[in-house]
Amino acid sequence: MGSLQLKTIRKAFGSHEVLKGIDLDVKDGEFVIFVGPSGCGKSTLLRTIAGLEDATSGSVQIDGVEVGHVAPAKRGIAMVFQSYALYPHLTVKDNMGLGLKQAGVPKAEIEEKVAKAAGMLSLEPYLARRPAELSGGQRQRVAIGRAIVREPKLFLFDEPLSNLDAALRVNTRLEIARLHRSLKATMIYVTHDQVEAMTLADKIVVLNAGRIEQVGSPMELYNRPANLFVAGFIGSPQMNFIDAAKLGDGEAKTIGIRPEHIGLSRESGDWKGKVIHVEHLGADTIIYIESETVGLLTVRLFGEHRYAADDIVHATPVIGSMHRFDADGRVIKSGKTGNGAPVIWPRPGI
Ligand SMILES: Nc1ncnc2c1ncn2[C@@H]1O[C@H](COP(=O)(O)OP(=O)(O)OP(=O)(O)O)[C@@H](O)[C@H]1O
Ligand SMILES: [Mg+2]
Repeated sequence: MGSLQLKTIRKAFGSHEVLKGIDLDVKDGEFVIFVGPSGCGKSTLLRTIAGLEDATSGSVQIDGVEVGHVAPAKRGIAMVFQSYALYPHLTVKDNMGLGLKQAGVPKAEIEEKVAKAAGMLSLEPYLARRPAELSGGQRQRVAIGRAIVREPKLFLFDEPLSNLDAALRVNTRLEIARLHRSLKATMIYVTHDQVEAMTLADKIVVLNAGRIEQVGSPMELYNRPANLFVAGFIGSPQMNFIDAAKLGDGEAKTIGIRPEHIGLSRESGDWKGKVIHVEHLGADTIIYIESETVGLLTVRLFGEHRYAADDIVHATPVIGSMHRFDADGRVIKSGKTGNGAPVIWPRPGI
């Protein structure tokens, strides 16, 4: 078991309040990812769960038991950091088994658990090596292996893959997903990488300046962002934001539309504009347009397209894919599309 409940967690460093009342329920076996801008409190929240920081107020419960006064080592938690924090003079095997040895676990049992974890992480060939003789990805796997052998109720990961190159990140990401499936353990994971968040999480928690903006599945956050912050944070390239007055919408302040929800034509469409820049990414083409009607637009088309700077184009949003936000940045839940977008929206002349 490894459920987690956070109730109104506040944390201040001196007069600087970093966490401003965090409420969160994590179910046993869930994979929860924290995202948010640098400095918003992700690591502080993770460290508070682990017991490495004391909350100023509020409660942390693991499996329904208050752990505010329980030492980090007794919380049934294992944390994996961005820096691997391995002992340089110990072999991979000894690094992985050290925690168990210190806890007085019999040698044969340690051997068995280390062998099992090494198997899961394809680390068998490296057990006799020291960290300096490993690549970054292998070291990070050792750090994960060290967490696995302790059989924690809760795994906490703080940007574990951010030191790895792109290919290794993908491999290690797949390994973590596989690990989560086989261990069925509860995992809480901090990342700056959108793809990691979208692909690994059962549930994403979007944090901003010490508060939770929204909690939901990746597709809920993508399809139904609750506010402008989440709409702008989730998705790359970023959602376009258009002044609603330009579209004749008297109720909304801002209209949001994702770059992939806009079609382009050379002949006709809703918003005429001029291409100012094109990015050919192979699988996608990103086109930046300056439109007289709605201002700067980013459009993402699947595949290769021969648009070039200075081309005159016409952009047309996909009906029902618009997000409408009020003056406070909250989504307006009218219409029937489920994402706050009206089914029929005003279509001004070009
Ligand atoms: N020990 C500390 N003493 C004082 N301030 C701290 C301490 N630890 C963190 N902070 C401050 O708390 C805020 C949140 O820091 P935190 O490390 O939780 O951010 P983060 O969301 O993990 O950022 P990043 O994405 O850059 O890792 C920051 O403004 C930071 O400067
Ligand atoms: Mg951090």
